[in-house]
Amino acid sequence: MKAVTWQGRRDMQVMEVPDPVIEQPTDVIIDVTSTGLCGSDLHLYDPLTPFMAPGDIVGHEPMGIVREVGSAVSTLEVGDRIVVPFNISCGSCWMCSRGLFSQCETTQNTDQGTGASLLGYSKLYGSVPGGQAEALRVQFADTLPIKVPHGPPDDRFLFLSDVLPTAWQAVEYADLQQGDTLVVLGAGPIGDMAGRIATSRGLRVVVVDQVPERLGRVSAYGAEVIDMSDVDDVAERVRELTDGRGADGVIDAVGMEAHGSPKAELAQKAVALLPKKLQEKAMLTVGSERLAALYSAIDSVRRGGTVSVSGVYGGAADPLPMFQLFDKQIQLRMGQANVRKWSDDILALLLKDEDVLGVETFATQHLPLEDAPEAYRSFRDKEDGMVKVVFTP
Ligand SMILES: NC(=O)c1ccc[n+]([C@@H]2O[C@H](COP(=O)([O-])OP(=O)(O)OC[C@H]3O[C@@H](n4cnc5c(N)ncnc54)[C@H](O)[C@@H]3O)[C@@H](O)[C@H]2O)c1
Ligand SMILES: [Zn+2]
Ligand SMILES: [Zn+2]
Repeated sequence: MKAVTWQGRRDMQVMEVPDPVIEQPTDVIIDVTSTGLCGSDLHLYDPLTPFMAPGDIVGHEPMGIVREVGSAVSTLEVGDRIVVPFNISCGSCWMCSRGLFSQCETTQNTDQGTGASLLGYSKLYGSVPGGQAEALRVQFADTLPIKVPHGPPDDRFLFLSDVLPTAWQAVEYADLQQGDTLVVLGAGPIGDMAGRIATSRGLRVVVVDQVPERLGRVSAYGAEVIDMSDVDDVAERVRELTDGRGADGVIDAVGMEAHGSPKAELAQKAVALLPKKLQEKAMLTVGSERLAALYSAIDSVRRGGTVSVSGVYGGAADPLPMFQLFDKQIQLRMGQANVRKWSDDILALLLKDEDVLGVETFATQHLPLEDAPEAYRSFRDKEDGMVKVVFTP
């Protein structure tokens, strides 16, 4: 089959690889019909390269049709249509039974000190073959995949794999009441979707970015926008919009590749020059000055408010403004999305006739898998109005 493989820094290639096979009686194999490209894939494209090996299959937002069923699977049959969550959780361990699916103890990577394995996400998260491929092995088939009806187009359900539950969790963690003001940093797919969810719950939403077409998308559903290239200080602008107080909640949907931090880019380039073993260590321990968005969130939130981080961060030695966090009594919540904790509630919304969150028009490009190398580059450079790419193998 064909799959998108990592071959080196900023080098994704579509290669012919062996088809996946049933390895456990609880597995199924799917023919992938749609598979998303995510901001998280960009971390593998560049900063997280020390954890990748040439040939790794990437991608973690797939859906498809069951082609083969393991002998112990009782709830799925050949021909069923399923969406696969990006984090691989067993559904029955101590963590899963508490709704902390992204910390699943069955798939945790204790050797790397990380949480549940993720599809297609480097040796930090289990080196599991990913979903930007023509076919995929799906583990824990009775509990992990989300079964969806035939009929509506793939895009109605595809974003259950990651974007929807991540954005949903970000809004839940911000812990706001109707009428409260939520600031969303970043208008990529995650920030955009978080804004849609929050708007549908009656929150006042202000989205910050600097890419014109991304800001255009969020104002189309009624969010207010701050173009960060137009203001000197985002937090100051937020206070102007909120009686001087700051936002009740702030979602950081940016993560470690924030703009506004030239030093960070330098640090990343410096790490890339180290030998591979040292690179791995440096990525996890060296301060990286990549916290521009998080600092902006801490500054923009009101006293007693909540900062909800869905952007991915690495590094361990970046200084955090502890005094400001403590003095402003800020609640800080974060983590990989616990997809299965939210997916039933989201699916109920997606099954309505009306496309409440606009998922069917959410993707900006549908491309064949062969176009992946070029798509990664354009997505990283935010060209061609590219916000959400869906590959159709
Ligand atoms: N927690 C999870 O489970 C989870 C799941 C999916 C994605 N993510 C992470 O969420 C983040 C966003 O994902 P995405 O797909 O939307 O990515 P993206 O790269 O498409 O979007 C990020 C946006 O942030 C904007 N931005 C950059 N610096 C900014 C700043 N200082 N202030 C405001 N905006 C700024 C960029 O212009 C861009 O539009 C990434 O870090 C991704 O890895 C986390
Ligand atoms: Zn993703
Ligand atoms: Zn588990």
